[in-house]
Amino acid sequence: MKIPSPILTLFIFLSPSLALANIETCLDSVCQGGEPLIRFPFRIEGKHAESCGYPGFIVSCTQNAQTLLNLPNWGPLKIQSINYAAQQLWVNDPKNCLPNRLLSLNLSASPFRAVYHQQFTFFNCSLNLEYLVSRYRPIACLSDSPKYVVFATPSPTAVGHLTSVCNLVATVKVPVQSPFYDQVMSSELVEDLRLSWDSPACGRCESHGGRCGFKSNDTFELDCSGVPSKGISRGARYAIAVCIGIPAMLCSFGVLSCICGWLKNGNHDRHWAHETVADFEALVGSWPTTVSGLDRPTIESYPKIVIGENRRLPKKGEKTCPICLSEYMPKETVKSIPECGHCFHAQCIDEWLPLNASCPICRTSPRKLPQPRARSSP
Ligand SMILES: *[C@@H]1O[C@H](CO)[C@@H](O)[C@H](O)[C@H]1NC(C)=O
Ligand SMILES: *[C@@H]1O[C@H](CO)[C@@H](O)[C@H](O)[C@H]1NC(C)=O
Ligand SMILES: *[C@@H]1O[C@H](CO)[C@@H](O)[C@H](O)[C@H]1NC(C)=O
Repeated sequence: MKIPSPILTLFIFLSPSLALANIETCLDSVCQGGEPLIRFPFRIEGKHAESCGYPGFIVSCTQNAQTLLNLPNWGPLKIQSINYAAQQLWVNDPKNCLPNRLLSLNLSASPFRAVYHQQFTFFNCSLNLEYLVSRYRPIACLSDSPKYVVFATPSPTAVGHLTSVCNLVATVKVPVQSPFYDQVMSSELVEDLRLSWDSPACGRCESHGGRCGFKSNDTFELDCSGVPSKGISRGARYAIAVCIGIPAMLCSFGVLSCICGWLKNGNHDRHWAHETVADFEALVGSWPTTVSGLDRPTIESYPKIVIGENRRLPKKGEKTCPICLSEYMPKETVKSIPECGHCFHAQCIDEWLPLNASCPICRTSPRKLPQPRARSSP
């Protein structure tokens, strides 16, 4: 079925990607579908020009399409995900033995640091002490001999005990995912490491829907483009386009076809208009109006608090909003995601969730509220 060209024109006009096309000379890229999206400050060696990335943020793709971050002094790490707005990334060992990598952890010459760290002590114990295995969790990939097992523990009690019966291997500050790790007796240390970077500070730009990059390829001066004026984010513009643009289009189309029908008083024309509106509605129905984010009613339902003069938050120790990285101030409204309890400026998370239906910190996917169905499903 044919769609009249004025409607197509309007569609192209409303498309959000087109509005940004003018600023993107360094395109987003991936090693393979499903792998993390790579853009400034990262760049993929061989795919992106040098000026598309910040020094120290070099990514390469392996033959089996893993996304590797190449760190000086510490070798490659597999990138699991990147949160550009929070300036954080999650990494693991490409060879699936993270504890082995942790034994030689060295972030000193890299732009990355731990968000939270926890001190783990590694022990190498003779397997004659079999009762240890029932008490602590052996690190399988380091315990490949039948003669000994390796444990890692953050617990001072366990350290006290193991020191007396095993060989201490090393003490390592592990970049853990959350500060609530200390209850464990011992760990196999398989969880992704959480790292962050301070420079370049593109988080604010990204969290407002913008894209960061160098002003030109001969300076390190940064530029943020694509943030709409008046602080309306990409998501908001998209929502506005969908909420106002489509009804307006439908409405003006309806009015036009009515006028046409009335002027010509011809059954044929009226039939044509009716059919086209039906086509158009089918098209709108198949259009992904919720890109990957969370719906408004769900976001609105989240608990909010206004920070008092003492700046006390539901979770102790969180002084800055992980999205915009600015400190919480008295009288600001803070919102938390009920599923995981992480807090953010209400304004920041309200812009984040319509674009990404996951917590920026722990990647928990919040549940959507059950929705009344507006349209019977096809
Ligand atoms: C990390 O690597 C640098 C450079 O090789 C070295 O000077 C430093 O001592 C290393 N740090 C650790 C903790 O091994
Ligand atoms: C543990 O001890 C054994 C025997 O002394 C040694 O071969 C092995 O390399 C040690 N493992 C680690 C991780 O230190
Ligand atoms: C930027 O880099 C490209 C390719 O490396 C080069 O052709 C171009 O002249 C450079 N532009 C400036 C302003 O240096």
